[in-house]
Amino acid sequence: MGHGVFITGTDTGIGKTFVSVALLHALRAVGLRAVGMKPVASGCVATAAGLRNEDALVLQAASDDAPEYTQVNPLAFAAPVSPHLAAAAEGRRVELAPVQAAYARLAARADVLVVEGVGGWLAPLSDTLAAADLARVLGLPVILVVGLRLGCLNHALLSARAIAADGCTLLGWIGNRIDPAMQDAEGNLATLRARLPAPCLGVLAHAADAAAAAAALAAAASALQSCARPGPGESP
Ligand SMILES: Nc1ncnc2c1ncn2[C@@H]1O[C@H](COP(=O)(O)OP(=O)(O)OP(=O)(O)O)[C@@H](O)[C@H]1O
Ligand SMILES: [Mg+2]
Repeated sequence: MGHGVFITGTDTGIGKTFVSVALLHALRAVGLRAVGMKPVASGCVATAAGLRNEDALVLQAASDDAPEYTQVNPLAFAAPVSPHLAAAAEGRRVELAPVQAAYARLAARADVLVVEGVGGWLAPLSDTLAAADLARVLGLPVILVVGLRLGCLNHALLSARAIAADGCTLLGWIGNRIDPAMQDAEGNLATLRARLPAPCLGVLAHAADAAAAAAALAAAASALQSCARPGPGESP
């Protein structure tokens, strides 16, 4: 499997979906058919069509070619708790086969997939699986979203170390200004640039509008062109 990227973050609620949507727009701007995926989601509402998760709906709406919901989000659980607990509450268990199958179907139609993880890198998915296993089984390089707030340096450095320890490739990181009151954000960004073992692929402003967020990720989109399916006439 290839031609995609896995979006992890320093924590839950730090802007993985915000960045993923901006990245989908930036990828489209460089001429790629881009599709989003949220393979495992907890915190879903019951609808007539089945369980629906806000992140997955947002990613589906930001995707090219209107992918089916169940391919964008093959594993949906109702409770807004860690997926392994939400699944257990329904007598279910997260397994990787449905994720691989949905990814393969989406990948057949897209140039590049943006796959949002759940929680941070080691968020548990089952008794044996963690969010990291999604990246591993799909063979995807990783982008780390750093939610810029007090504590993010430790979380970012721990995440980078864990990604490397799991044998995955950290393509780069994206700073996301989630806390407009953060003190010395520039000092934090300089520290991240100096200490993280991969390049900064962009920094998103607080309350950036869709166009500005996508523009801030132009470098990330260019870096991802190398992960995308070769176009007509290009060698594989
Ligand atoms: N740069 C930003 N400026 C302002 N608000 C932001 C920014 N980035 C994210 N947010 C807001 O912060 C909240 C969390 O962001 P988001 O849902 O993207 O996080 P997440 O890491 O995907 O969370 P989860 O772990 O639940 O998937 C959302 O309400 C989002 O709109
Ligand atoms: Mg999200």
